Amino acid sequence: MIKKLTVAALFGALGITAVAIAQDEGPHDGAIKGRQAMFQTYGFNMGILGAMAKGKMDYNADMAAEAAANLNAAANFGQSAMWPEGSDSETPGNAKTRALPAIWSDFPGVLEKSKALKDASAVLAAEAGNGLDALKSAMGGVGDSCKGCHDDYRAEKK
Ligand code: HEC
Repeated sequence: MIKKLTVAALFGALGITAVAIAQDEGPHDGAIKGRQAMFQTYGFNMGILGAMAKGKMDYNADMAAEAAANLNAAANFGQSAMWPEGSDSETPGNAKTRALPAIWSDFPGVLEKSKALKDASAVLAAEAGNGLDALKSAMGGVGDSCKGCHDDYRAEKK
């Protein structure tokens, strides 16, 4: 009885992990899906800002400021559990991922790209609510930082 309770308590404590492992196939699939969800958050907020910048959506200062603040928050997520060794696009058994092995062989380079995004998204967060022109001029730096990392560290879409 005591033993059973202990196992149940332990399972309870590990519940989330156990579920994640049961649903996924590879050992790194949770991390891969977690980082992809983070990037989806980048894309969602950039989509709103891009639509306003291109005139496809009316500029709204509050909405622009919020989307830029969200992007800046997501750009500053701690990511240490999202990039385990072996979770790249070349290692068999992983969930679908476009993360190139270069991320692990050139980690300082990735950090530099990541910092470029943080710097640009901080500027965007400060400017996006200050009118359409301010939004437009702060968007470029963020777009460049996305592309800068994708060019070197993300595989082409298959
Ligand atoms: C430091 C590098 C880096 C930066 C900066 C970066 N990305 Fe990415 N992005 C990646 C990598 C690597 C992947 C592939 C992740 C994977 O498939 O495991 C990715 C994937 C994505 C995806 C696809 C997610 C999915 O569901 O598979 C989107 C969308 C995306 N990025 C948008 C953006 C946007 C928008 C920005 C800028 C605001 C940005 N990224 C900045 C490296 C970066």
